[in-house]
Amino acid sequence: MSLATSYAVDPKRDGAGRKVIHPLVVRVTHWVNAVAMITMITSGWQIYNASPIFPFRFPDALTLGGWLGGAIQWHFAAMWVLMGNGLLYLGYGVLSRRFYRKLWPITWRGLIIDLSDALRGRLAHADLSKYNAVQKLLYGGVILAGILAVLSGLAIWKPVQLQVLTAVFGDFDTARIVHFLSMSAITAFLLVHVAMALIVPASLLAMFRGR
Ligand code: HEM
Repeated sequence: MSLATSYAVDPKRDGAGRKVIHPLVVRVTHWVNAVAMITMITSGWQIYNASPIFPFRFPDALTLGGWLGGAIQWHFAAMWVLMGNGLLYLGYGVLSRRFYRKLWPITWRGLIIDLSDALRGRLAHADLSKYNAVQKLLYGGVILAGILAVLSGLAIWKPVQLQVLTAVFGDFDTARIVHFLSMSAITAFLLVHVAMALIVPASLLAMFRGR
């Protein structure tokens, strides 16, 4: 299918002929992911505080679980939700070609133009069905950071059983640093992402209603 044809069939329309910007499966997996990811991050900060790898700790008020044991229970419970939900979102994105249609192509020219427009507050938001180049890069990037966070997490959870995976990262300590850095990238994304969603409330509404 050519790029022009694929744009012509996306976004789809609902029974009443209205544009569907985010199909139901994307909306449900997005919000389940948001809850699971925030649970993983805040319980992860509590786990980190028990044995910091850098010379700082996260404020207790921002952590979940109360103590190391409680945080581990939250972290492992949310892990299954995050992985199952993530596989559903990724599977749908690949099989329906949604990723290809919505997140591709990303060009240097598009990035420079959209970034300079964004910094001057001149980005157009009239058509919410198409992502600009900066959004494509950020969404593609956070999906990869999420996959990296899960893989490095598995490597430090079961370093003996999954020693091949741990070896891919180098060793246990390196996998732990990769896990921390991917969490940091996701947290930085989240701060910008939530701010943007509040600045353009129509995009937030579309992530609930689909239209
Ligand atoms: C609770 C906080 C969150 C809010 C308010 C929020 C809001 C939104 C909104 C409004 C959109 C649609 C953007 C648009 O159409 O212009 C969106 C899309 C997206 N968000 Fe979030 N989000 C949140 C959490 C997250 C988290 C935790 C992640 C991943 C770590 C994430 C990843 C994404 C991705 C990848 C998309 C594109 C989805 C697609 O089209 O397939 N979001 N979000």
